[in-house]
Amino acid sequence: MQVKKALDHMSVGVCYYPEQWPVELWEDDFRRMRELGITNVRVAEFAWSIFEPEEGVYSFELFDHALELAHKHGIQVILGTPTATPPAWLTTRYPEVLNATFEGVAIQHGLRRHYNYSSPKYRELSASITRKMAEHYKDHPAVVGWQIDNEFNCETKEFYAPADHIAFRGWLKAKYGTLHALNKAWGTVFWSQTYTDWDQVHLPRMTTGGRQPNPHLALDEKRFISDNVISYARIQADIIRETAPRHWVTTNGLFGGLDNHRMTGELLDFFSYDSYPQFSTLNHNPDEKDRLADRGWSQTLSVVRSISPRFCVMEQQAGPGGWVNRMDMPSPKPGQMRLWTYQSIAHGANMVVYFRWRTATFGQEMYWHGLNDYHNRENRRVREARWIGKEIAAISERAANTTYAADIAILRDYDNEWDGEYDVWHGPFAWTSGTAWFKALQYRHVPCDIRYINEQTTLAELQTYKTLVYPHPTIMTDKTAALLEQYAREGGILIFGCRTGYKDEKGHCYMRPFPGAAAGMCGISVEEFTMVKGSREPVSMHWQETGELAEAVTGADDFNDILHPESDSVEVVAAYNSDYYAGKPAVTRNRIGKGEVWYYGAVFNRSAAEQIIDRLGIASPVRDWLTLPQGVELAVREDANGPLYFLLNYGEEAAVARISKPMRNLLTDRQLQGEFEMEGFGVVILTEAL
Ligand code: GAL
Repeated sequence: MQVKKALDHMSVGVCYYPEQWPVELWEDDFRRMRELGITNVRVAEFAWSIFEPEEGVYSFELFDHALELAHKHGIQVILGTPTATPPAWLTTRYPEVLNATFEGVAIQHGLRRHYNYSSPKYRELSASITRKMAEHYKDHPAVVGWQIDNEFNCETKEFYAPADHIAFRGWLKAKYGTLHALNKAWGTVFWSQTYTDWDQVHLPRMTTGGRQPNPHLALDEKRFISDNVISYARIQADIIRETAPRHWVTTNGLFGGLDNHRMTGELLDFFSYDSYPQFSTLNHNPDEKDRLADRGWSQTLSVVRSISPRFCVMEQQAGPGGWVNRMDMPSPKPGQMRLWTYQSIAHGANMVVYFRWRTATFGQEMYWHGLNDYHNRENRRVREARWIGKEIAAISERAANTTYAADIAILRDYDNEWDGEYDVWHGPFAWTSGTAWFKALQYRHVPCDIRYINEQTTLAELQTYKTLVYPHPTIMTDKTAALLEQYAREGGILIFGCRTGYKDEKGHCYMRPFPGAAAGMCGISVEEFTMVKGSREPVSMHWQETGELAEAVTGADDFNDILHPESDSVEVVAAYNSDYYAGKPAVTRNRIGKGEVWYYGAVFNRSAAEQIIDRLGIASPVRDWLTLPQGVELAVREDANGPLYFLLNYGEEAAVARISKPMRNLLTDRQLQGEFEMEGFGVVILTEAL
């Protein structure tokens, strides 16, 4: 119901900070927004000191006036709760609310997110401001929804205030019940770490050589932080639901240390993301020839879609980004802002809110450029926004109900992500392999989902895909293994990489041959394994010729599992080329039931992923009628009325595509057939011809 109201149509919004501008500008701002096709604004997410200038003294005049003007101009309002920026009076009077560094140094007032989620006082004060705002605005005709806080775990996902150590202890007591169980789970008999009193237990603290906590503690720390954010967010969500039940509730940002899926499922109507593709220019590596650059944001947007199939982009880049002291980004070129907007939409956004209306003239973000420049005269970004506003209003009816469609998904899970942040024996592989697959599929124009799984995942959810790639699920319970095996037996294709299945949920290694929990379905054991780095020469693997596919050689990167087939159903697809294990199996394919399970003994690269793609005959859904250059992304959103094919040209140069049946470009309403040119940064949405 709530989702329907917010996302049943497509809309464009903008982030607006009336408290940063002279009141004389507001009305003209709202008027111009409407003229650009902007129909909603997000406000107030950092305005605590405006709403509560002193403890217990509330002031709504400023925002009342701004909201009244917004309403007058037909603009809907999303209110942010301002808890990402506690005021100076608050942190001075209650220093226990401050976060602390790993070394225990308190983080002081002056930037943002300087609080911790554990302090009972902060929870109480957050509840009060949320309740006051919700009571005040619950019946306001302009207000439609709420954003809780701002970007949980942005700036930091580490919390070491005294209140956090106490809360962690409470969390552990609830999880383990006894110290004995905790000692077992953390393997504290190792190096005499055994705890004999709860007061001895802490979040990671300084150890010899710096920061080297017990690995099982490190994993529980991540789980605790995630639970702690969710329990903090729940306070606000519950108050808003109770006080302002007509409004929807979301939060924005996609940062580490947080199970966004669980948070969204339990607390929110839908998830919101903040998309700044120009961050890709900051770590540009000219040697990486097939770099995804801003197109790489499609990978993150796929994660967002796995949380909410249709979602909001609460902050969409609207100009060059920059803080005073860091993040010095180039300006988006003409057409790029529009391209990024459609990138968000292609992946499932129905509401896109630009960050921000006008660049601030002061403060940390005075170089984070909004649609309007300081001078407020019409510029090219404003003109581009007008173009987009018009288009989106026109396509909304046809496109709003569609969702992204894919036959293949890359699987992830939080436990492995969090464990991998500390464990260098598998952690760094996940990103490399996931990106290699994403790239291979992107450049072949095969739409792909990213899905998170956990103990609650059902077979039916997995069965929406023909193929699942789960690159390095080191932690794998027998329950998850059984589910995955059933998926394969009933016809699914499952692909694992090295380091699969050897740890339990505590992060202990199983006393079983690798790949541990996955061994049965893979039909193999790992005879031996090695890191491939340092003095080790790079290793390659040799793929057997099969059917129409020729032999091939690809790199066997970073880590090698030397495989041993344990069953007759196992086919060796590739073997190692060098070192003492030359000739030994590197890739296997096990046919079980109606499906198959692949084991790839190394860290994936794009060429290896392409070998598997070819051997499985995975192809683009448009292969029969549309030829696209590599630089153009294909995304498909569909509903009962059929598919919409989004073509996104990330290149500055024009791209030529060829189409063998008449189709219509939804954005221009023109028919396309034969060869057609997409301009640099161009977007086409193909639909059936009329
Ligand atoms: C986001 C944040 C905004 C703004 C923007 C640009 O992370 O939510 O408030 O800071 O980045 O830096």
